[in-house]
Amino acid sequence: MGLGFSFEKLGYSHSKGKVALQGIELSANPGEQMAIVGPSGAGKTTFLNILATGTRPLVGQIEILGKRPWELSSVELKKLRSKIGLIHQAPPLPPKQRVVTAVLAGKLGQWSTLKSIISLLYPVDITGAYNSLAQLDLGERLFDRCDQLSGGQLQRVGIARVLYQEPELMLADEPVSAMDPVLSDLTIKRLTQYASEKGVTFLASLHDIEIALKWFPRMIGLREGKIMFDLPTPKVTQKLLQELYASEMDAPDLNRSAQSTAVLQKSSKL
Ligand SMILES: Nc1ncnc2c1ncn2[C@@H]1O[C@H](COP(=O)(O)OP(=O)(O)O)[C@@H](O)[C@H]1O
Ligand SMILES: [Mg+2]
Repeated sequence: MGLGFSFEKLGYSHSKGKVALQGIELSANPGEQMAIVGPSGAGKTTFLNILATGTRPLVGQIEILGKRPWELSSVELKKLRSKIGLIHQAPPLPPKQRVVTAVLAGKLGQWSTLKSIISLLYPVDITGAYNSLAQLDLGERLFDRCDQLSGGQLQRVGIARVLYQEPELMLADEPVSAMDPVLSDLTIKRLTQYASEKGVTFLASLHDIEIALKWFPRMIGLREGKIMFDLPTPKVTQKLLQELYASEMDAPDLNRSAQSTAVLQKSSKL
């Protein structure tokens, strides 16, 4: 399906001058699935926003699904954006909106203006919205208002919206941060299965290392705006992870040489 993406010498600083990303070189083949991990402040959200074309990089080249977004006309950019689905950590859903409307909004970028307006007034594809929600065991909440849901349920509505969108590139920014461990695991399982079935390129930032190790074939470690490692998951050692989170984990325990395998074995049993 999609054409993957590539970054060349990408750099970004936020307005107050702090460097959020620098010298990022990365590419992904169509249908590849990868997790991006690293301490908070590493630049994961900035990276995902750039990939979703919500933020324009200050330095470097980016190509997404075969296009350079910032060289496109506004019509072409809108078309590209309709093929990119970003699952937010806290989905920006209007509190009074019905779940069904929030899910259907996933396709607004693909629908005509008229169909979009009608959909906001009256849900045009209730079955489609139900099917997306049902994949996350949330079908029965179709007509609830968004402010009647918990944080974890809202995250699942945000995911259903992107599944309904049927993007070619699926991005997720800590998509299960408000869910309990069992539901987190199940939700990431569903997302990776969905991406495999549809051949969708999928990149998710995760703070739960075990889930990243368990479900993703490739892992990217980001720290202070730079890529520390980019490896097939079986090659990610406990030592690399300890270095990645060095300031967060007190007294990293480097003596347990078999720990890397232990982590992998433990996670595969979950
Ligand atoms: N809107 C912003 N304005 C200024 N600095 C920001 C903004 N958003 C993020 N940053 C800074 O950019 C760096 C990367 O942040 P972010 O991409 O949110 O990291 P992560 O998602 O890995 O926690 C951090 O130092 C953060 O403080
Ligand atoms: Mg973040």
